[in-house]
Amino acid sequence: MYFSMKYSKNILLCLSITILVQWITLEAKSQKVKIHWEKIANGVWKAEIGKPEANNLLTIAGVGPKTLAINSMPLAKFPLAENEIKVEVYDGKTYLRFPLEQQEKIFGLGLNFKTVEQRGRILRLHEDHYDGVDNGRSHAPIPFYVSSKGYGVFINSARYIDIWVGTGVRVDSKNPPEARDRNTDPKWSASPYSDNVEVLVPAAGVELIVFGGPSTLDAVSRFNLYQGGGSLPPKWGLGFWHRTPTLFNDTQLLNEVEGFTKHQFPLTVIGLEPGWQSKSYPCTYEWDSKRFPDPKGLINTLKDKGIYTNLWINPYIAPDAKIMSTLKPYTASHTVWAGYVPDYSMKQTNTIIGNHLKKNLLAIGVSGFKMDENDGFDFWLWPDVTKFPSGTPADIMRQTYGVMMQKLNTKLYRAENKRTYGLVRGTNAGATSFPFVIYNDYYSHRDFITALINSSFIGTLWTPEVRSSGSAEDWLRRMQTVCFSPIAMLNAWADGTKPWTFPEVEKEVAEVANLRMQLIPYLYTCFAEYSFYGRPPFRAMNLVDGFSVNTKEIKDQYMVGDNLLIAPLFTGEKSRKVILPTGKWYDFYTGKLAGEDEVITVTPGLANIPVFVRDGGIVPMAVTNTVAEEKYDLVIRYYGEKEASYQLYDDDGKTFDYEKGAYCWRNISVKRDQVGKLNGTISAAVKGKPDNVGKVTWEFKTN
Ligand code: GAL
Repeated sequence: MYFSMKYSKNILLCLSITILVQWITLEAKSQKVKIHWEKIANGVWKAEIGKPEANNLLTIAGVGPKTLAINSMPLAKFPLAENEIKVEVYDGKTYLRFPLEQQEKIFGLGLNFKTVEQRGRILRLHEDHYDGVDNGRSHAPIPFYVSSKGYGVFINSARYIDIWVGTGVRVDSKNPPEARDRNTDPKWSASPYSDNVEVLVPAAGVELIVFGGPSTLDAVSRFNLYQGGGSLPPKWGLGFWHRTPTLFNDTQLLNEVEGFTKHQFPLTVIGLEPGWQSKSYPCTYEWDSKRFPDPKGLINTLKDKGIYTNLWINPYIAPDAKIMSTLKPYTASHTVWAGYVPDYSMKQTNTIIGNHLKKNLLAIGVSGFKMDENDGFDFWLWPDVTKFPSGTPADIMRQTYGVMMQKLNTKLYRAENKRTYGLVRGTNAGATSFPFVIYNDYYSHRDFITALINSSFIGTLWTPEVRSSGSAEDWLRRMQTVCFSPIAMLNAWADGTKPWTFPEVEKEVAEVANLRMQLIPYLYTCFAEYSFYGRPPFRAMNLVDGFSVNTKEIKDQYMVGDNLLIAPLFTGEKSRKVILPTGKWYDFYTGKLAGEDEVITVTPGLANIPVFVRDGGIVPMAVTNTVAEEKYDLVIRYYGEKEASYQLYDDDGKTFDYEKGAYCWRNISVKRDQVGKLNGTISAAVKGKPDNVGKVTWEFKTN
């Protein structure tokens, strides 16, 4: 009896210890974390949840905030109800929850091609070539969203992130949907109302950053400034680009350039595709000596004609490339197209590749690169079981590979005090200040414009490049939109097309290309606003102040800067609707009133892409199309009837001296005199600062 009593006492003790241990373990597994928001700049708050990983999107990109610029923005209060943000670390993962209000719209979350509004969507943000579905697999899986209520949320993790944007319905929801009877209730819905954004980060901690407004554009601008501000391309980068067929040699290339002169067509950048190299897929990063016996001579000849040279590369290095003799220890366990995969997270890799590019390519005048295939595509890319010598996990490498390539490239040109402008297929947060534009092979004109709109929410740039077309109409429509995008480019790598490929629209294509050139002063100022103030140069309508939140998804019209509204037409369309933001809007070409606070229908004909200017819109343009290189005469266009002012930016157009103060903003203003007549003035050039403006004339477009 004594023994059995003692025995059961022991059992009891054991049981209670087990329960206690289990309880403690459960507690340890599921940690409801109290969030400590640290205000790091005006309208920017950061919180560390659990144990954030050292490798995050911003540390990998190596960028820091432009705090002064952020602090000069309007004051902003913490934009969300703090007690409604819930975070938890459980099972080695971080769970995040943010509130949503009725009518609130969510934008961003990667470079989507079909949708602008993301509420109601489920995404896994994963670096990938776009495959026709907006499911989070994207060239730019940027974990940032911005709300129509004027705030932004950035989840600074370099992992694949799952996100339920207003789809999950919780038992403890503040606004739970009603359970309805599907048998009888016509209001039954398969997607009942959800009042939150939920996020799962596969790491035991994460850094969160919240950006205040008050406007949606302010929140985006703060996000951009937080990553170092937008990029400022050299002026020549904003001209017209042409990429030649893969296997062109130097003679063919020069003939192509001759064609531009013959057809009186502008050209500022010529792009060489894989065939400039002795081998590609995998690459050598060495010139093919048969096709290009004298690359330096060729680049100089082009330079004398005012043409810059851009070279295609992809990351995968041929086993017999010279560079492999030192690079091998810094490559991954797996290959791509039998080429070695450099570990760009290592210093040695950057030094070896950097020195090679510098010595062999930058030194002879190459002005930039198109960095292809760093977005990956599961069927040819290295898998996530790949080991990298740095120990950086393969998923993090996949999410940030393009960012690391941009970082090295940016650094190389900066070291020479030369600005570059290039192309990249994969990017992520942190790369906003790197001067690269995303492109791809998807080629749906309509979806290309949706992507252009979406790029503005997430701090990236996108070009709806032109390649080929089935008809003259499609050709012209594509050319018209690409000329209102970050890179006006014809990519003829596969089709050998030329701007004049469709003679029946050659005149119209030349007109829009020349217009692009003349708009460089305006475009360059838009980019300066991106760099100095974080405001995206090409923007969604949802970023326009006062634009109604109640309008349906807008996927086919957008803004260039504050003053120009672009409303493209697509093949087969004879007319379209344009939703005008508040106020009066004027036709760019005629200056006539187009509408006021309304949705208009336009029937523009083939010759022009519809462009509208806001009331009081000032558009500085160059008189000729040679602005990229020279001092230029300026024609200042003014539209509407309101008094207005505008700041025109200028600097040397090609170096980083502007970062040391070598730039100026010139004030342009339009006022009414005593008899009510509009008069325009431009402030004098600032002494000691770059001054490229020659003669100034005015065009008051609205009579
Ligand atoms: C593709 C790229 C094209 C072209 C081609 C060359 O991946 O998107 O623009 O550069 O490679 O092989």
